[in-house]
Amino acid sequence: MLGNSVGGSHATRMADVAQRPYSAPNDATRDTKMPMIETALTRLLGIEHPILLAPMGSAAGGKLAAAVTNAGGLGLVGSGYANADAVRKELAEAGNTRVGVGFILWALEKNPAALEAALDARPAAIMLSFGDPTPFTGRIKDAGCKIICQVQTLAQAKQAAAAGADVIIAQGRDAGGHSGTTRGTMGLVPAVVDAVGSIPVVAAGGIADGRGLAAALALGAAGVSMGTRFTATRESLWDQAMKATTLAAGGDQTEQTRVFDVVRGAAWPAIYPGRALRNAFSVRWNGREDELAADQPAQEKIVLATAPDDFDTRVVWTGEGVDLVNDIPGAAEVIERIVAQAAETLARGARLVHGTPSRSA
Ligand SMILES: Cc1cc2nc3c(=O)[nH]c(=O)nc-3n(C[C@H](O)[C@H](O)[C@H](O)COP(=O)(O)O)c2cc1C
Repeated sequence: MLGNSVGGSHATRMADVAQRPYSAPNDATRDTKMPMIETALTRLLGIEHPILLAPMGSAAGGKLAAAVTNAGGLGLVGSGYANADAVRKELAEAGNTRVGVGFILWALEKNPAALEAALDARPAAIMLSFGDPTPFTGRIKDAGCKIICQVQTLAQAKQAAAAGADVIIAQGRDAGGHSGTTRGTMGLVPAVVDAVGSIPVVAAGGIADGRGLAAALALGAAGVSMGTRFTATRESLWDQAMKATTLAAGGDQTEQTRVFDVVRGAAWPAIYPGRALRNAFSVRWNGREDELAADQPAQEKIVLATAPDDFDTRVVWTGEGVDLVNDIPGAAEVIERIVAQAAETLARGARLVHGTPSRSA
């Protein structure tokens, strides 16, 4: 953790990266330069590309986080439900690479010691989501660590800004895994940008390619945080059956549901359902959550006994952006593709403009 694989001054790194020939892995014929997109986020975090790996409990381990950081983004490991052992294990997997750690706030409130386990390793950033960050931001700031708050509403964005967030992730309900119920990425991001002044805003939810990064920048965001796209990478902790199911799935098959949390006895507040693939289990229990809770031990046994490839029962958390996930590359290749496509998209967008834009536009 203390070593910094993204070492040197930002300017030196930018110059270095700008010189680096861009060749996508497995494509020795490419010899273009890797484009650079510099934003307030890249400057603040000292990274090359404005891309964060979302801290996903079941998928974003130390290996994936390190791969994202080594490719010029910033990887964040998931901490499960504020599990100190999981934090130590995944940070060890990341080795000397500079990564951050993400916490689910309502779980951290029950086990604040997990934050100390993370801060001991001097992470690049701590991300807090799904609750009020205020009780924890002072401690994180005192440790000299950057604070990233993921929010689901405009009111939460203002709360995070007042609590001292260095970066605010505006997460729409398009996202894979847990999110709010009310706001989509497209409407939430510019509203948060307008509300939080100079704090860099990152867009999350439904972004899985370079068009999504370009769109986020057009909305005023300084970068993106992606989960679903990275679940299907070589370094993801998911097993092959999960990755294959993700590849075969489309956004139309996703839904926000609480049933997978209810059956596991996970204490998620009802305002944070999770987006997952609809399956026989969710169809059976959606709308009958109280009944399921009453039957929880029996049903949990069935779920636990389910074969790993039985996706009629097993949950696959995934977002609306899953339509765009069609292969299982390495994380570095994902980042190269996204930056290249975003740069092309932004350039194409600029060519659509005739005349001089007015300042108020
Ligand atoms: C499999 C999966 C697990 C997730 N786990 C967490 C988590 O443990 N903590 C968290 O803050 N967010 C979690 N998220 C949500 C992400 O932080 C992020 O907001 C989301 O992935 C962005 O949307 P996208 O999936 O469309 O890229 C998870 C998302 C997925 C897909």
